[in-house]
Amino acid sequence: MALTILKGTIVSAPAPGRLEVTEGGFLAAEEGRVSGVFPVLPERYAGAAVEDWGDALILQAPMDLHLHAPQYPMRGCGMDLPLLDWLNAYAFPTEARFSDPDYARELYRALARELIESGTTRVCMFSSLHREATLILMEELERAGVTGFVGKVNMDRNGGKNLQETTEESRRETLLWLEACQDFQHIRPILTPRFIPSCTDELMDFLGQLAAERSLPVQSHLSENTGEIQWVKELHPDCSQYWECYAKYGLWNRRTVMAHCVWSDERERRAMAEAGVLAVHCPDSNQNLCSGTAPVKTMLREGVRVALGSDIAGGDRLNMLDVAASAIRASKARRILDNWETEFLTVAEAWYLAVSAGASFFGARPGFAPGEPLHALVLSDSGLPRPARPMTPAERLERCLYHRQRDAVQAVWSEGRRVFSRTM
Ligand code: GUN
Ligand code: FE
Repeated sequence: MALTILKGTIVSAPAPGRLEVTEGGFLAAEEGRVSGVFPVLPERYAGAAVEDWGDALILQAPMDLHLHAPQYPMRGCGMDLPLLDWLNAYAFPTEARFSDPDYARELYRALARELIESGTTRVCMFSSLHREATLILMEELERAGVTGFVGKVNMDRNGGKNLQETTEESRRETLLWLEACQDFQHIRPILTPRFIPSCTDELMDFLGQLAAERSLPVQSHLSENTGEIQWVKELHPDCSQYWECYAKYGLWNRRTVMAHCVWSDERERRAMAEAGVLAVHCPDSNQNLCSGTAPVKTMLREGVRVALGSDIAGGDRLNMLDVAASAIRASKARRILDNWETEFLTVAEAWYLAVSAGASFFGARPGFAPGEPLHALVLSDSGLPRPARPMTPAERLERCLYHRQRDAVQAVWSEGRRVFSRTM
């Protein structure tokens, strides 16, 4: 029987705002599935090999619920433009380059590697509209050990000369892509209408039917930027709010992921909570593109499901530890905007959003729940300045979130498999 036993300071986030800490504890997995976290090694494992990580932190591996793979080469570019101008000037021309399979292979291999080295083992990701490059992306993620969902983007209007399909092409390419991606083990397809301005009613209607027929999940963007929201109103005068444009095509349910939701008001948030739509908070992107400051604490209080996303390349940080710290900072900015009437995210809450909140989207439970596939990382803080007094594991985690360490991740397990060792 394949057995993994890791010893160290184990910190998990089994519930919002609560860290579970086992110092000098044992995290065990049998056949790749967690069997438990133990303060003392259980009798049944006596004599088994134990990987002793000393004082290092053993954490759940984070998830990135929203990023654009073909924007990987343009991180930190055009950050002085608002969303719609940035899409036209930077994002669309960059994505158009992925018609070249060799370029896609090179960039997607590097992206998959960087994800794993920063400990991200589960993703919900946009590709570009290109079928071949999307399959290459799925291959490279699978090869590196990244798991989750990838979508071939659908866009049959407003993309410009080099990045647009006809409606018929979009339909045909989506069906061919779905056929071609049946053999992946750990990467699954997700339908991906880019956003309302990118998709005609006819295409949306097709995607709604396809989602229903094949029980496919869906990802898109919602209420990110005020100019975008105004445009959507003009395109769908029959819908009083942005979300209704997705709902009217049957793309609004528990299998729906909506990035941003910065400007979603109480009614739109209620629609999310009632349908079980997963909102993805992307704090770096929202600040970089001057989109706004999402009311994350309010969303959570109102029962909206919320997870975190890097939104590469609106966001500039791929590492989800950085994104968790950004989410805390954004919630503090929101508190100031709200006249100190809302709270900010605690470290335990932000970490829960990074590692556990999106778990249900992958069919998993939060924390190191027994029976779940092992997604874990070993994180060292030994390179940081020696603290003035001993720190608790929770304080150490906080420091790691803020410190943007390079090379701090020592080892990573994804879906039960060891996929990275620093000494490898
Ligand atoms: N809305 C539509 N496309 C995009 C994109 O690529 N990035 C962001 N941040 N928002 C979008
Ligand atoms: Fe995005």
